[in-house]
Amino acid sequence: MTEQSFQGLHQTPIHALPDHVGKTVLLQGWLYNLRSKGKLHFLQVRDGSGIVQAVMSKADVSEQDFEAVKGLTQESSLRVVGEVKADERAPSGVELSVRSVSVVHVAEPYPIAKKEHGPDFLLSNRHLWLRSKRQMAILRIRDEVVRAIRDFFHERGFYCVDSPMFTPSACEGTTTLFELDYFEGDKAYLTQSGQLYGEASAMALGKVYVFGPVFRAEKSKTRRHLTEFWMVEPEAAWHDLDDVMVLAEEFVAHIVSRVLANRKSELADLERDVTKLEPATRTPYPRMTYHEAVDYLHANGHADFERGDDFGAPHETALSAPYDRPVMVHHWPAEIKAFYMKRDPADPSLALGVDMICSEGYGEIIGGAQREDDVAELEQRIAEHQLPAEAFEWFLDLRRYGSVPHGGFGLGLERTLAWICGVDHLRECIPFPRMLHRIYP
Ligand code: 4AD
Ligand code: MG
Repeated sequence: MTEQSFQGLHQTPIHALPDHVGKTVLLQGWLYNLRSKGKLHFLQVRDGSGIVQAVMSKADVSEQDFEAVKGLTQESSLRVVGEVKADERAPSGVELSVRSVSVVHVAEPYPIAKKEHGPDFLLSNRHLWLRSKRQMAILRIRDEVVRAIRDFFHERGFYCVDSPMFTPSACEGTTTLFELDYFEGDKAYLTQSGQLYGEASAMALGKVYVFGPVFRAEKSKTRRHLTEFWMVEPEAAWHDLDDVMVLAEEFVAHIVSRVLANRKSELADLERDVTKLEPATRTPYPRMTYHEAVDYLHANGHADFERGDDFGAPHETALSAPYDRPVMVHHWPAEIKAFYMKRDPADPSLALGVDMICSEGYGEIIGGAQREDDVAELEQRIAEHQLPAEAFEWFLDLRRYGSVPHGGFGLGLERTLAWICGVDHLRECIPFPRMLHRIYP
């Protein structure tokens, strides 16, 4: 007997059962739920790929197997052999008529019962919480989004490059830097964004994307901030702000289309209203300048918004409210944006940056820009932002040796997932969330 076979049968994943109606199959999984009624046991079995109901009738199985299942605890592991039966009432269209069950491990009483638990309890038991239907659905959608991201860029000739996690300097402001001791008294910082290294790589390969975890010492407790999250950052030579915006909207439309096509049952498990997502599969997305956005806010219930300030969550919600898909706000006041953004030649008070803001109040999922490509301008920006010039010499070199117009953006994976899944809080959108006061498990 190997791990994959039992009684001469090979394991069939639950998601594939509809292709095996009438056949006898082996499932290997965990008991999600058990109901017993007289001579029948109804087992909900999960194997990671799905959940199926397995009906065990005393008449069809050995006495010993029937007794072994009686009172079996939630999350006990087992092997089930049975015949796949079509059943219109079942969500997957099939159920299993059990022939034999072998219990592999009887679980201790499971701490996460079917009743409601508070978020603190669930987060402390995140390693077990992952096994709930809702969390499994979110994880599978996350996997789909990651694949859609990679496919999108590879189909368009972008190369994946990796940026370092230890860096000598800040990319997105010094207030959210995690500092650590490197060797011999040197300070290092955990990366906030792979962008600067993405720019160097784009000067080598033309079109690249960096995809990995980034770290920000966010001291605020909000539902939209993690201290460790995943960002995907395309960077392309010869792209101006407009090219960056077109890339961003086509990218997001592609991701949403893929999830809608391949993860229907997970979206149904999450009770996500997919009609709210469908418009985002169509481009173009609406665009407005920062100043147009402020005009809109002033006329629509936010008269006190200070022109020149960054938008907060209520402002983002108001701005996206009139639209059925994400909206892009571009041409920002340079003072509130990062040092690397190129200024608008027509109005140097503006930076050629763009934020994509999601509908339904999910907020910003993308920040991007055309980059400053002039060495003298960039040197001045680094000085104005009081950044240590020596740490940026290599970055300035990119403007000394064959500088070209270029740009890119960063998309936050967990924010995007929260929007697609219709989940309120980012803590459910990453397997093991890291937040202020939360580093266990
Ligand atoms: O807007 P941000 O700060 O942009 C950058 O880091 C650029 N260097 C990206 C680039 O141009 N290559 O961050 C990009 C995105 C945000 O729009 C948001 O989706 C996400 O990263 N994000 C966070 N997600 C979770 N928790 C946090 N603390 C986040 N901060 C930003
Ligand atoms: Mg941003």
